[in-house]
Amino acid sequence: MKTGTACGKIILFGEHAVVYGRPALAVPLSQLRARAFVERRAERGIVIHARDLGRDIFLNDASADDALAMITRLTLDKFGVTDNLEISVESDIPLASGFGSGAAISTAIVRALGAYFEKSLAPAEISALVYETEKMYHGTPSGIDNSVIAYEQAICFVRGQDITPFQIARPFTLVIANTGIASPTKITVGDVRRGWEQDPARFEKIFDNVGAIVEHAQDALARGENDRLGELMTRNQRALEEMGVSSREIENLIGAGMRAGAGGGKLSGGGRGGNVIFYVAEERAEEVGRAVEEKGAMGVILTRVGS
Ligand code: MEV
Repeated sequence: MKTGTACGKIILFGEHAVVYGRPALAVPLSQLRARAFVERRAERGIVIHARDLGRDIFLNDASADDALAMITRLTLDKFGVTDNLEISVESDIPLASGFGSGAAISTAIVRALGAYFEKSLAPAEISALVYETEKMYHGTPSGIDNSVIAYEQAICFVRGQDITPFQIARPFTLVIANTGIASPTKITVGDVRRGWEQDPARFEKIFDNVGAIVEHAQDALARGENDRLGELMTRNQRALEEMGVSSREIENLIGAGMRAGAGGGKLSGGGRGGNVIFYVAEERAEEVGRAVEEKGAMGVILTRVGS
């Protein structure tokens, strides 16, 4: 049996505006992983067992909009191979939560097939394959999720440009709180698009503001001036509120985290649900985690970024 794994991801700054050409910063979340296993099947055909979804997908019968079938077909075509296969996937990454679960599962499948057929692909090639499935999940994705997951490193992403890793001079602590509300990115991305179509000048201004916040954050991270990150997160959150992708639950969690001593906080990913992230001094992390859990967060992760 051959295995492939892939990490989850968190966007630190710049979601949504990144769809419109502004930069965004994202980091891998290596402790949350999707895994795929490939082995030869005794019977004919290819079947994908999606354990977490309780589904078995037969490649021949799968509909064109099944993402797992799609990434399997694209990968086999890319390699120019086929075989009778059992592919199993499992994931620790909560679905529709802003952790990039879809892109991670697809990446794990590409890697497991690569291991089985002894073919290796560069991160850029994996990312390009997975981007095709992201289009199905997200409508008009920027490509940030598939990129940070395929490269598994902190990246500054600008749509249509080469991926650049960004420097983190001093590691910092992030508290990640899951609202427990599944919110498909496709919907919030679509709503932002409608807002932009109705009032392009207003939205372009918000996106420019986010672009400037991202540049300040990148500069702060490169200089080790981590104290600036909290305020920048809070400013980015305001811009996301103006875009209409925040929610009462998100803002309640942010309020609780801030009262417990976080330096700043924002939603991460598509919004309306999913995750909230906080920049916190290390000694405050437990307290902030406890406070957001008491306020109803469905899962809290304390992680060091950049170490
Ligand atoms: C989703 O993780 C990030 C968004 O900016 C959408 C995208 O970039 O495709 C909301």
